[in-house]
Amino acid sequence: MKRVVVAPGDGIGPEVIPSALEVLRFFHPEWEYIPVYLGYECWKRTGDALSQRTLETLKKADLILFGAITTPPDPKYHSVVLRIRKELDLYANLRPVFGEGFDILIVRENTEGLYSGIEWQEKDRACTLRVVSEAGSRRIARFACGCAKRRRRHLTIGNKANVLKSDSYFLDICMEEAEKAGISIDKKYIDSLVLDVLQHPGRYDVIVTTNIFGDILSDAAAFLEGGLGMLPSANIGRHQALFEPVHGSAPDIAGKGLANPIAAIRCVSLLLKYVGEKPSAIEVEKAIQKTIADGIKTPDLGGTATTEEVGRAVLSHLASSKKAEGPDL
Ligand code: NAD
Ligand code: IPM
Ligand code: MN
Repeated sequence: MKRVVVAPGDGIGPEVIPSALEVLRFFHPEWEYIPVYLGYECWKRTGDALSQRTLETLKKADLILFGAITTPPDPKYHSVVLRIRKELDLYANLRPVFGEGFDILIVRENTEGLYSGIEWQEKDRACTLRVVSEAGSRRIARFACGCAKRRRRHLTIGNKANVLKSDSYFLDICMEEAEKAGISIDKKYIDSLVLDVLQHPGRYDVIVTTNIFGDILSDAAAFLEGGLGMLPSANIGRHQALFEPVHGSAPDIAGKGLANPIAAIRCVSLLLKYVGEKPSAIEVEKAIQKTIADGIKTPDLGGTATTEEVGRAVLSHLASSKKAEGPDL
């Protein structure tokens, strides 16, 4: 039995999350599902984007399924996503990107770096403090080495140590941890790394990097899979995990049924892997592949299907593969 908190959020979040939730309920109708209301619309309506009560509910969850949230560049508004990651100490942000001839796992530090939240405004400048701590770096480095051990035992460390002291600190710690773990490494400056991942994705396995670099690298890497509508992510802490698409609330297409729900549905696949149900995770992935092969695709992938149609097709592939297994007598 798991407590799953479901936070659809803003924009296309409430459009893609129902499809993902149906897939999760298909595997686990017996789990407890708790909906919560948070985000920018919630802020406009109530003056609070994330109430203390909602935060407590999130803290008590085993698993969180999260849509997306609009974060306006309004100095009075603070990102709910960043606050949740920090409050729940979800320190590892995993963003898998795979396809024909490549299988990459981006491991993004998720609680500090340029998103430390330590910012201030002076008369003629605004400052944001980029914090890279030993503890923060060591735990993400260890996490990435753990992932590498289960894969090709190789780690790429994305950095900008040539110009940033904080990155040279991060790099040294990652190298120490990789050496202890017996993982081979290569170091790459993040700017050239972004291009090389796009040109030669097959060269990469696990890539660890600091917060903002992982943010930018993962959006760019979405190109390899057809766009932002395809990539899921897992935000992992010590005792709980939050699953959300890499994409945002996409206000430009919200409310039109155009959003691709695959990134959100893939979040369920990651969630199932996280709870140790790899065969079910693979089933979800296969159902997605069959749906795409049938030509049931939203416009971002060149199709004409709606969000709901894609969700229904994935679910019906799952249901028919279950039937093919025969009855559970
Ligand atoms: P975005 O990811 O929302 O959209 C970028 C582009 O990709 C848009 O053209 C959009 O239509 C397209 N796109 C995104 N998801 C798609 C999907 N599922 N199907 C089809 N097309 C899709 O990024 P943005 O426009 O830079 O940001 C919009 C808002 O979302 C901002 O307020 C931003 O702060 C927020 N945001 C939130 C999260 C989050 O909640 N985790 C992540 C990123 C951005
Ligand atoms: C993401 C988003 C967030 C981030 C924003 C909305 C705070 O872009 O999840 O990639 O920068 O981490
Ligand atoms: Mn992002």
